[in-house]
Amino acid sequence: MTRILQISDLHIMPEEQLFKGTIDTAAALRKILSGLAGLLPAIGPVERLVISGDLTETGCEGAYDHLRAIMAEAPLPWCAIPGNHDSREAVRAVVAQDELMPDEGPINWREDLDGVTILGLDTLIEGAAHGAVSDATLEWLEVTLRDLRHRPVLIFMHHPPIDTGISAMDAIGLTPNPRFEDLLRDHDGPVQIACGHVHRMITGQFAGRQVTVAPGTSHAVGLDLQTRAGIKFIPRHSGAILHDIGDKCLTRLISSDDFC
Ligand SMILES: [Fe+2]
Repeated sequence: MTRILQISDLHIMPEEQLFKGTIDTAAALRKILSGLAGLLPAIGPVERLVISGDLTETGCEGAYDHLRAIMAEAPLPWCAIPGNHDSREAVRAVVAQDELMPDEGPINWREDLDGVTILGLDTLIEGAAHGAVSDATLEWLEVTLRDLRHRPVLIFMHHPPIDTGISAMDAIGLTPNPRFEDLLRDHDGPVQIACGHVHRMITGQFAGRQVTVAPGTSHAVGLDLQTRAGIKFIPRHSGAILHDIGDKCLTRLISSDDFC
């Protein structure tokens, strides 16, 4: 069994700037990182920390400089995939584990750990809020899954491949792609999918595979399943996900209450 931590949707701003003028996303990330560090003796060993996109809010250089400084305090080796608020080239530059990063093109990566392979899939369409699995990413995934055969796989992708019922977020979700769905459905080995984008924990099924959407590290998107009133942000509603992957797979929510 291999244990992996996931955090998502950091939305880091340039130093001394607040998200929407009110939310200190940097302080929230520092609190999550120190909380996870304090929990590690109780929940470890953990192999990796994966950030499932929206590392920054603005996609600008100052925000990535700020992110780099904060992530220097990360208690684990970490890697990331881009979200819709990110710049692909900035994410490529900032991720610590350079050997995982492709030099160009979509940020799709593979890391073979003990008993499990984690994959990062790039769903970013730069300049757009919604996402897509591009033909290049699909071809990379097809070759990679064929090579992995029956090995357990945990796929990280920013945009969930499921509708969540929060219409404002589903409107900027992942463009349906039957080839992507067929590829995951037809694969022989165990596959789990871990996403971000929606800023709250949601689980569902896609292509017969379990999908987990992670909370953000700073603020949640309001749970509006009815009014279609637009996106409301809820400060201090945050957490992380702990994945166990192996013969048995478990997905656990870690909330800030766990840090007390
Ligand atoms: Fe986000």
